[in-house]
Amino acid sequence: MMSLLIINVEAHSLAIFQAIAEYLSHDLPYKLSPDDAFVTSGCTQAIDVALSMLARVPNLLNFVAFRHLEVRHFDLDAVEALADHNTAAMVIVNPGNPCGNVYTYQHLKKIAETAKRLKILVIADEVYGLLAFGANPFVLMGVFGSVVPVLTLGSLSK
Ligand SMILES: Cc1ncc(COP(=O)(O)O)c(C=O)c1O
Repeated sequence: MMSLLIINVEAHSLAIFQAIAEYLSHDLPYKLSPDDAFVTSGCTQAIDVALSMLARVPNLLNFVAFRHLEVRHFDLDAVEALADHNTAAMVIVNPGNPCGNVYTYQHLKKIAETAKRLKILVIADEVYGLLAFGANPFVLMGVFGSVVPVLTLGSLSK
């Protein structure tokens, strides 16, 4: 299980990583350690780093990496048919922007089980996690961290 929290400060102190791990662990069925947290300059840079690593491009900040990625829109039921040997991760944005949809626990579970079958990572952009006001309670993808590796993206900017 990896978690990535993005804050707009330079952080070299262990205390900051401990605080991040403790904060994120509140809503998880396990405890994160300071080593599970990484700090970047905003969620945008976290997305850049995560996607660049998956694209195996040496320069992490090289946006050219994005041009080698393919964006596909899919129904979750069809994702297994669409995935191939180049499929490295599923990216979810929950709560969604701009529509504000919030995935249910059952839907997130299905995403985790699908990713597990495909042996891929789930990258969960949860920058709006504290801004969910509808009928569905917001559930961290990290709740399924024992099912599948989860990279959680957050941001103080929201
Ligand atoms: C879903 C989502 N993720 C990430 C970002 C970027 O976050 P940051 O401002 O921390 O780079 C945005 C920006 O609005 C966003 O809407």
